[in-house]
Amino acid sequence: MMVLALESSCDESAAAVLDGRRGLLSHELFSQVDLHRLYGGVVPELASRDHVRRLLPLVRQALERAGVSPRDLGGIAYTAGPGLVGALLTGAALARSLARGWGLPAIGIHHLEGHLLAPLLEDPAPSFPHLALLVSGGHTMLIEARALGDYHLLGETRDDAAGEAFDKCAKLLGLPYPGGPQLAALAKQGRAGACPLPRPMLDRPGLEFSFSGLKTAVSLAIRAQPLDDGRRADIARGVEDAIVDVLCGKALRALDQAGFGELVVAGGVGANLRLRERLQREAAARGARVFFPRAEFCTDNAAMIALAGLMRLEGGERPAPGLAVRARWPLAELRPPAAA
Ligand code: KG4
Ligand code: ZN
Repeated sequence: MMVLALESSCDESAAAVLDGRRGLLSHELFSQVDLHRLYGGVVPELASRDHVRRLLPLVRQALERAGVSPRDLGGIAYTAGPGLVGALLTGAALARSLARGWGLPAIGIHHLEGHLLAPLLEDPAPSFPHLALLVSGGHTMLIEARALGDYHLLGETRDDAAGEAFDKCAKLLGLPYPGGPQLAALAKQGRAGACPLPRPMLDRPGLEFSFSGLKTAVSLAIRAQPLDDGRRADIARGVEDAIVDVLCGKALRALDQAGFGELVVAGGVGANLRLRERLQREAAARGARVFFPRAEFCTDNAAMIALAGLMRLEGGERPAPGLAVRARWPLAELRPPAAA
């Protein structure tokens, strides 16, 4: 089966074509970061309007690059939530209209399931069951992924997500939006240990996270000394080290507790090189394997939505009627395709 997918949950518009036999045939993306940079964050209404402009050309491009016509498709997948309602509606409306016109099933995908499945686009791919560390701009979760659509939450953040902590600390350091990758780049010039910051909840038992205290600690560090370029880099290094330490510490604890041999890392923060290196090294020392998507499939993309759509359609899921999108949608509500 071949699936066309659309992603529009936040500030990236994307389309992709995935073939069950031949693999990923195309993936196109337009990032709206330049549009939102001026405001220091995503402006929902601007995001929706831009998706309306970008999505259809991206669909055309994805089909063209894949060398397929709508007749070749077996279904259309789109992100149905969680995310910005207006942004989600633009993708859902286009996907369902195209599906109606072309006589195809349209299937709404949970954005986080897309992130969780993204490492399965790679070779070698992880197998179920496995432990997943999902770290994005909006979520920080440790999940026992038992099968497609069967996800058990082991722990999550009580306040800010890891990506949000990267972004907020970056903003305090005067870095432009989106700050995570910029802070990681600046941290390369910083000295390890020059700006020690707290590791929230790392010394407590359990698998919960908390990152909101880090902003306060960074504000204090900024005020404590004159902020020249060297000091900014040291603080950036301190932030990255603190977040990576906490994520690694908790992920490895979960790996030990759950007894799984495979750890999947997904979501935008999974693109962080220091996190990738640390997890690889420390998991290997325990005899476990770590699976990451390539960096461009850590952040939002349509390839991961196409894979979730393909797996669900091939698993026998039938499209639900109506244009339902959900701003909030707990992952635990998902079901395997046969039961969905
Ligand atoms: O998964 P994603 O693209 O969007 C959401 O669904 O949230 O994640 C975006 C988040 C942002 O907070 C961004 O700053 C962070 O991922 N991010 C990074 C890196 N690349 C993206 N954080 C740290 N280091 C990176 N290299
Ligand atoms: Zn995402």
